[in-house]
Amino acid sequence: MKQQAMVASGNDADGMVEPAFYDGQDVASLERARPIPRISIQAFCEHPHVADIAQAASEDRRLSKAHVSVHMGGAAAAVAHYRESPTPNLIIVESGQNRTEMLGDLDSLAECCDAGTKVVVIGHVNDVILYRELLKRGVSEYLVAPITQMQLMESISNLYNDPESDPVGHVYAFIGAKGGVGSSTICHNVGWTLSEALKSNVIIADLDLAFGTTGLDFNQDPVQGIADALSSPERLDEVLLDRLLTKCSEHLSIFAAPVVLDRDYDISADACDMVIDVVRQNVPYVAIDLPHTWTTWSKRVLMQADEVVITAIPDLANLRNAKNIVDLLKTARKNDHAPHLVINMTNVPKRPEISLKEFEQALGIKAIAQIEFDIETFGQASNNGQMIEEHNAKAKSVANFRDIALTIAHRKDMKVEKKAPATSAFAPLLEKLKLKR
Ligand SMILES: Nc1ncnc2c1ncn2[C@@H]1O[C@H](COP(=O)(O)OP(=O)(O)OP(=O)(O)O)[C@@H](O)[C@H]1O
Ligand SMILES: [Mg+2]
Repeated sequence: MKQQAMVASGNDADGMVEPAFYDGQDVASLERARPIPRISIQAFCEHPHVADIAQAASEDRRLSKAHVSVHMGGAAAAVAHYRESPTPNLIIVESGQNRTEMLGDLDSLAECCDAGTKVVVIGHVNDVILYRELLKRGVSEYLVAPITQMQLMESISNLYNDPESDPVGHVYAFIGAKGGVGSSTICHNVGWTLSEALKSNVIIADLDLAFGTTGLDFNQDPVQGIADALSSPERLDEVLLDRLLTKCSEHLSIFAAPVVLDRDYDISADACDMVIDVVRQNVPYVAIDLPHTWTTWSKRVLMQADEVVITAIPDLANLRNAKNIVDLLKTARKNDHAPHLVINMTNVPKRPEISLKEFEQALGIKAIAQIEFDIETFGQASNNGQMIEEHNAKAKSVANFRDIALTIAHRKDMKVEKKAPATSAFAPLLEKLKLKR
């Protein structure tokens, strides 16, 4: 078994972390371990190495809602403990015993287990008969040591998310290293490109409640969407979500910001979490447009997202801020990909710029895209309420948006058909009116 979680990124000759550098197996493993609900998990280990793995898994973002405690003493300690105390949602027991002894221990454990408690066993023998006997006794999973942290998380995740039937969407968070650097534009164009390229449903959630531009960028006059959901997240279900979304195209909907200033927007981190959870259960891809702020809730979104895209322009303040965000995320998200860096608005005439190489070296990651300053295209698209590719399929940045979209979705191998360019300035209007051109 590979230590896939530990090779989330590779170092190149300059000591630089390459983005999107997994082999197929690693990506698959990361994708399969999905967030685990608010359950209690107690692990009883025999070896310190296994206890360390359980402890490290408990600190991963995917288990951040679960309450995990790790004890030593294996099955015997578990039995002694549960004779006195109620059992949690999930017990993980490590046992180095042979088949007969292990089954005996598990029978004793079963006697003091409450109904509904699941058990995962970590053993040291690869024995099919033992495996069958364990399943017969209701054990949910048998893992053979040595195990990796990712393997353990994946097994737990599979107990609470059915990988076949539960649609657990991927969440991509977009943040600017400074205000006004183009993060929302990139979020919207990447979200749109994903929906067109993969023909999969995408929701763009605008968390810039006071000043968000999602409605404008998609030429929509949306309902107040996301603010309603955040004010009473417990009411949000599939039906309400459907009412709060604004559909922009076959596969793209926006969860738009109210953008009115007659109220305060103090978002609670828990409410934000709950809303994102409901959204991700309803679509395969969620692009979150974060404002350039640093609050409990925005930090939580960054910590919990499957992928983070940081947009920066090549100046010193952006470099400093991007470095702070990258360093923090790399430290806090050890089993995740490093955040993705997009350098935007390059080659502005006469403006001194920090070179791409210097920027990448300072941050220790390679940029996944470098987007040129193109005021004509971006300005016109924005005024028309169009995405760049809709406005001008030949614009240079179209390839950048595809690159970013397919990189974060780990679909770089995919070839994307080009759409025919819109022919007239009225094209989007005609499209909206469903008139044939
Ligand atoms: N590469 C580019 N070339 C020219 N203009 C651009 C480019 N990228 C973005 N813009 C323009 O920059 C402006 C700011 O973009 P945007 O609102 O996306 O930034 P932001 O980082 O989300 O800002 P905020 O901090 O307000 O959330 C927009 O008018 C957008 O059209
Ligand atoms: Mg923005």
